[in-house]
Amino acid sequence: MAIRKVARMGHPVLRKVARELTTKEIRSEETRRLIQDMIETMREYGGIGIAAPQVHESVQVALIEIPEDPDDAEEGQRLTVFINPKIKVLDSTGQAFWEGCLSVPELRGLVVRPRKVEVSYLDREGNPKTIVGEGFLATVLQHELDHLQGVLFVDRIQDTKKLAFLDEYQKYFLPVQGEGIGDLGD
Ligand code: NI
Repeated sequence: MAIRKVARMGHPVLRKVARELTTKEIRSEETRRLIQDMIETMREYGGIGIAAPQVHESVQVALIEIPEDPDDAEEGQRLTVFINPKIKVLDSTGQAFWEGCLSVPELRGLVVRPRKVEVSYLDREGNPKTIVGEGFLATVLQHELDHLQGVLFVDRIQDTKKLAFLDEYQKYFLPVQGEGIGDLGD
């Protein structure tokens, strides 16, 4: 395993549409290593999700790891790997979260996204799976899957007055957050 270098905004790899993996590729040693490295890189930098283009691999692989209640799932179950994912909006009602990104360090921006989505994908063994995400999870799923289409959260910001450096965000925005506004860190 290895911690990989994270591509930062401005690197062309973050703007490409990532290609799908074949069944053979999904089961390959190379993909297994890529996923392990993505997990290690995400944890090293304190992210709750990461997509392959962020480690300079333009393939349809993303993963999320959201801390849940301590008495809920075990560590392994919090981690979900998405290969060749397809996303469908189930409820387009907008919800706002402050987002951050390992590829856009030190910034936070308020992004409005649909509140409920369904993602169909292949797991690490190539088995088809579906997950429905609401609330915060819906935003995280959309953020990570956007990376596979060459989209960054800054593209989704409607009001650029709600784009701030982390320190200023914590000082001026965090204390006055309204209802329904959460924080999606790096
Ligand atoms: Ni990101």
